Amino acid sequence: MICLGIESTAHTFAVGIVEKKGKKYKILADVRDSYSGVGLVPSELAEHHFDVAAEVVKKALREANLEIKEIDRVAFARGPGIGHALRVGAIVARSLAYFKEKDLFGVNHCIAHIEIGKHLCKVQSPLVLYISGGNTQLLVEKKGHYKIIGETLDIGIGNFLDSFGRKLGLEFPAGPKLDKLYFRGKKLIELPYTVKGMDLAFSGLLTATIAKINKEKNRDLIYSALHTAFSMIAEVSERALAYTNKKELLAVGGVASSKALTKILRTMCKERGAEYFVPEPRYCTDNGVMIALAALIDGKAKRLKIEESNVIQKMRTEE
Ligand code: FE2
Repeated sequence: MICLGIESTAHTFAVGIVEKKGKKYKILADVRDSYSGVGLVPSELAEHHFDVAAEVVKKALREANLEIKEIDRVAFARGPGIGHALRVGAIVARSLAYFKEKDLFGVNHCIAHIEIGKHLCKVQSPLVLYISGGNTQLLVEKKGHYKIIGETLDIGIGNFLDSFGRKLGLEFPAGPKLDKLYFRGKKLIELPYTVKGMDLAFSGLLTATIAKINKEKNRDLIYSALHTAFSMIAEVSERALAYTNKKELLAVGGVASSKALTKILRTMCKERGAEYFVPEPRYCTDNGVMIALAALIDGKAKRLKIEESNVIQKMRTEE
């Protein structure tokens, strides 16, 4: 069974091709093209995705050394994401499914991040920490469904990093640049720390951090802002490990590739006798492989008729 998966929830238009043989999955192609403009303007994202879509699909088929007739399933990220961007992936998937007579599958983008993390890290039933631009969630799987047991009450951690970075004049995405600068900090400045049980909030921290720009050295402010935010994530993750009795923590999503966060979470896990897992950085960020993979795992994607294959901008991880 071979699946072609399309990712287009935000700035990246990507196509992955995965083959399933028995219980084994093999990545046959992984092609991506990301919008490089400033910020995420929906109409500009859609224009970018439309411009590159045909070429990205062709390149992926070439990389896999396959013809379209050899593909069994076509999958697309149905949500959550930016409507304009999501619709491009959905239109490309529907066209391939209709004109080339393929089975069409809609995939939840968050579930795809989790499934590729579990697959690459070879971990069965971990506590999942999903951290990306728009999300910060703690999840456990129960009877094939993911249940959110803790999450941000306002903005996602990635959004916090990008908003702070923009105020410092850093280009989007600011996360990786801030991550490097974190290790140069010398002084920990006191900033708001908001944790409520297994939930957390970043907007108060963001406001207070921005108010200190030009009043503190940038390197110390970056170190302090990231250290505070990541310590909050470590605290709720530790509480969730204790609550669920899990011995494995798997971080997925774009922010999971942060070296600063990895250092903090690894230390926390080591101290409480748990194991920490994170996929290689390439598969923390958005990609088409995870969409194809999720569509090949029983119960993780929905087979759709063309007429019911709408996108769902605010799709929840529990769906
Ligand atoms: Fe993502």
